[in-house]
Amino acid sequence: MRSKVYELLFQNRDKSISGEKISDMLGISRAAVWKHISAIKADGAIIESINNKGYLLISLPDKLKKEYVMPFLKQDYKNIDIKWMESVDSTNVFAKRNAVGNIKSFIVFSETQTAGKGRRGRTWESPKGNIYMSFLLRTDLAPDKISGITLAAAMGVCDAIKSYASIVSQIKWPNDIIINAKKVCGILTEMCAEEDSVEYIVIGIGINTNAVMGYSDEVEDKCISLKEASGVKIDRPELAGTVINCVLARTEEYEKFGLSKMIDEYTKRSCMMGKELVIDSRDGKKTGTAQGFSEDGMLIFKDDSGEILKIRAGEVSVRGINGYI
Ligand code: BTN
Repeated sequence: MRSKVYELLFQNRDKSISGEKISDMLGISRAAVWKHISAIKADGAIIESINNKGYLLISLPDKLKKEYVMPFLKQDYKNIDIKWMESVDSTNVFAKRNAVGNIKSFIVFSETQTAGKGRRGRTWESPKGNIYMSFLLRTDLAPDKISGITLAAAMGVCDAIKSYASIVSQIKWPNDIIINAKKVCGILTEMCAEEDSVEYIVIGIGINTNAVMGYSDEVEDKCISLKEASGVKIDRPELAGTVINCVLARTEEYEKFGLSKMIDEYTKRSCMMGKELVIDSRDGKKTGTAQGFSEDGMLIFKDDSGEILKIRAGEVSVRGINGYI
């Protein structure tokens, strides 16, 4: 019922709606309306009570609950299952724990994570105010196609940042999103697969959104929030809904066409092209320059001896010679 009350407030956010009208439309008492309005306010919304007119939604709630994200979803995605928690160890781990039986695709948000996971066994610091989300997706893709979907998801996050904040972000292969040479978003894709079939994939996305405190010095130096980049506080439910729309559009495109249609755009968005890089793999370090990306999502790298190598994400860490990029 709370979601229905919120829907009415949201639909009438440019005017106002009376408690009486809400109670008539939903068949609940005025006291019940007031209780739901109080709960929505407790989630951070500013709702003005205007004499003789009713309630006016001035600013959105600041929680990523389904009812607050849903108004921003495209019609096609409105039925997707969205789970929410105040705190969890890691949304990726939660998604995997809940991927039992024939469970359908779902998305999970948490306001904070106590054991957020980054790539290559790193931790992902997760103070409140940001977006921590994981998509659990069923797919018919073969296991060797999964590393490419992570590039598609990165494109989706860039699309969402452009659409919400009009900021053109870049990608540090395979899937760090960069603004002003600092990291604004990281993506961790995991899968459960047998030899030739994938049971499910989990695409975990962490976006530095509004949090300004709660990072270690090391992370603080190389990360940027969207709030810093745009100069205004971000409406997290709207950004989160936009991320869902854009990431699902890109992953669906990837399932149909692979990277063929987006690799040129991905290359344009890359902050690595022509840059001197250090590739760190199990076989040691190599320096060279990025030449481009293949349609199977590999980095094409020319080492200092002139040899061209195709490098698969997950097997290496890549750094700029002079710092993060
Ligand atoms: C990286 O850049 O190292 C990847 C970071 C991925 C972080 C996100 S936050 C939501 C999801 N849950 C996790 O534990 N990790 C991912």
